Amino acid sequence: MSAGFPEVRARRLRGTAALRSMVAETALRPAELVLPVFIKEGIADPQPISSMPGVVQHTRDSLRKAAAEAAEAGVGGIIVFGVPADKDAQGSAADDPEGISQLAIADIRAEVGDGLVVLADLCLCEYTDHGHCGIVTPGGSVDNDSTLERYASTAIAQARAGAHMVAPSGMMDGQVGAIRKALDGAGFRDVPICAYSAKYASAFYGPFREAAEGAPRFGDRATHQQDPANAREALREVELDLAEGADMVMIKPALSYLDIIRRVADTVRVPVAAYQVSGEFAMLEAAAANGWLDRDKAIMETLTSIRRAGASVILTYWATEVARRLRA
Ligand code: PBG
Repeated sequence: MSAGFPEVRARRLRGTAALRSMVAETALRPAELVLPVFIKEGIADPQPISSMPGVVQHTRDSLRKAAAEAAEAGVGGIIVFGVPADKDAQGSAADDPEGISQLAIADIRAEVGDGLVVLADLCLCEYTDHGHCGIVTPGGSVDNDSTLERYASTAIAQARAGAHMVAPSGMMDGQVGAIRKALDGAGFRDVPICAYSAKYASAFYGPFREAAEGAPRFGDRATHQQDPANAREALREVELDLAEGADMVMIKPALSYLDIIRRVADTVRVPVAAYQVSGEFAMLEAAAANGWLDRDKAIMETLTSIRRAGASVILTYWATEVARRLRA
């Protein structure tokens, strides 16, 4: 006969906070949090982002300060998104050694050295005037193979500026291999690649597109980002990226894709990252602003669930705040 009620009572281990804490299966560490930041060229003061309360487009000065604060709080990494003053069809600012992202990466390195892992998001959508993630053909589609050349050269520019790691997010086929080859050829054999392997065509990127000014002018990203209906396809993307040399893999967004995080974490032997994206941030902040849920508890619950699902690195706009809370 199997043991059960009334001898067995699961509530016994929930009686006090100390008991609950002792048997907790999941804990968050500041070092596994990564702060996404936006740096905008040519502004005198930080610009608030209306759909992301508390998040700004930084100036070079305010970004240095934010990086120092993140490092001070124990945050593990920072990922840089550049918003250039001028955009063109090729996204020329992406690989310009004097481009805003490269300047910001160098600034952060100057400020915190190796105190934060500095990741460079690698895509063209913030740099192109049409807002697409790559080179657009006259017919209006995103051309895979010519885009790879732009990514390869951008990766080199980012590594030269001091990025510890590059994170390709464009979902072009072969992008990890092309970037690996370029980095190795330029003497950056030891710069790892964190591949956004399973990046879904998600409605939850809405606020980010305001922040990064990278909404597509026409069409959408459904021909390269993944269909939210698919899970096995994510495993295939992860497999391909690992074969091309990815050192870490990322799932994005996080909360609607906890099952994908779990399946990937059970499959691979590299660290798994998850990106709690702008829309996840915005919907929680909006509900909290209305008094509809307990903001701080809800933030911790989402992050704990992403960790529990199997992500060991989490990108979140709350990184500094949460790192401070974890240390308090
Ligand atoms: C593309 C990129 C996007 C995000 C990160 N990198 C936007 C997109 O694919 O449209 C979204 C991040 C977020 O919503 O927080 N460079």
